[in-house]
Amino acid sequence: MNEFYQKDIISIKDYTKEQLEKIFTSTDKIMQLSSSQRQEICKGKTLGYLFYEPSTRTRLSFDSAIASIGGNSLGISNISSSSTQKGESLADTVKMMSIYSDILVLRHTLDGSSRFASEISDKPVINAGSGTEEHPTQAIQDLFTIKKEKKQIDGLKIGIVGDLKYGRTVYSLLHGLGNYDVDVRLISPESLRIRSDSTYEIKKNLDFTESTELEDHIDELDVLYVTRIQKERFPDEEEYLKVKGSYVVGLDMLKKMKDDSIILHPLPRIDEISTDVDKTKNAKYFQQAEYGKHTRAALLGLILNENGF
Ligand code: CP
Repeated sequence: MNEFYQKDIISIKDYTKEQLEKIFTSTDKIMQLSSSQRQEICKGKTLGYLFYEPSTRTRLSFDSAIASIGGNSLGISNISSSSTQKGESLADTVKMMSIYSDILVLRHTLDGSSRFASEISDKPVINAGSGTEEHPTQAIQDLFTIKKEKKQIDGLKIGIVGDLKYGRTVYSLLHGLGNYDVDVRLISPESLRIRSDSTYEIKKNLDFTESTELEDHIDELDVLYVTRIQKERFPDEEEYLKVKGSYVVGLDMLKKMKDDSIILHPLPRIDEISTDVDKTKNAKYFQQAEYGKHTRAALLGLILNENGF
């Protein structure tokens, strides 16, 4: 039996390097299959989604991914149009969705929400973002993008810049990178440093330095992973205004980077990468979003087929 069959995806911490590499191999396979071959992988399967927070890429890429492998999707993208408004609990909403679908994708404001849902649901649950905690399928797509674009992950110098306190993609990515031999530079305003309750665990597997100055690292990096300052997660807007616009990657910054370096961003972007960078060969963030559809199709194919595909 394929080891991913009927398994939840709650945290990237649950994956070994070997398992991540298997997912990357399956993603490559998905990308090479013809459209008609792909359609057989999850024929007739239904993906159910519940999004308690806004999303463009994650929800649409899951929609697009399941359609590309022959399945269909249904769900709630705007919780205000659901019976949550009448007071229905998350537990009952998850239970309902697990009746109507073969796999459930959940985004929720609370840390621990996906773990909780997986205990209620009879069907596998995929964490599509749980509070400030994790976004594991984003990390899988980020690691896949680095591997595709740089041909390897081991040996790279990777800068992660922006909101390292509230950005859940950062935590999943750091835990994922812990499987590789990489040199990580964390760059953020002092008030948005990585949360101290997470550093102990991350440090067990990953070497990283912390700094406030992007300029001190920019010429050495192979990968620059830019993140948005997460305005919606600040308890106080005054605090947000103090750090808004702290880092802006523009063409002037790009000139200081290695010619073959790549710029990634989980998106959405506000102003932290100027749009004139988009057309440069280093800008890989839209490609990264496209890989997200393929990595998610591979994950769905593995979870929903006993013998893989
Ligand atoms: N990267 C990401 O999670 O984007 P969305 O919030 O648009 O889903």
